[in-house]
Amino acid sequence: MKKAILCILSAFVFIIITEAFQTAQQQPWVVPEKNTKMANPVKADAKSIAAGKALFTKNCVDCHGKKGLGDGSKVPELKTTPADMTSQAFQSQTDGSLFYKIAEGRKDMPKFKKDLPEDEDRWNLVNYVRSFGAKK
Ligand code: HEC
Repeated sequence: MKKAILCILSAFVFIIITEAFQTAQQQPWVVPEKNTKMANPVKADAKSIAAGKALFTKNCVDCHGKKGLGDGSKVPELKTTPADMTSQAFQSQTDGSLFYKIAEGRKDMPKFKKDLPEDEDRWNLVNYVRSFGAKK
């Protein structure tokens, strides 16, 4: 009986430690190589960027913030933090990688291939978030 309690207790401790670790140290988000190399078929012209901005305002601002700084109003409720989209680390990723992350999601980041099933919408978003880098 004592053993069972000890076993359950240590399982709890293990879960708490791993949770805390994951929150403190966000794991690198590895994108499969074939996705990183995917070319962006949508030209980043004014029309695409405007469409991306409208989608971003509707679907992303609550977490990522108006300027992509990761300071949206929902952030205090999240376990993981959205990255600063103006940063070099973010902007140095390929369009294919960003497209993959928007489609697949991870933890608090929703899987947008469900809510935004059109590839073009997600490429427009990629084109729009690129503009956050250009301002730096
Ligand atoms: C509910 C909050 C939430 C919403 C809404 C949301 N995101 Fe995120 N997003 C996150 C979080 C948290 C992360 C970090 C996830 C991780 O690293 O596990 C993230 C990560 C990302 C990344 C990868 C960042 C990196 O550093 O590589 C991209 C790209 C992204 N989001 C784009 C978007 C776009 C575009 C939208 C809207 C269509 C959106 N997100 C909506 C919370 C959100």
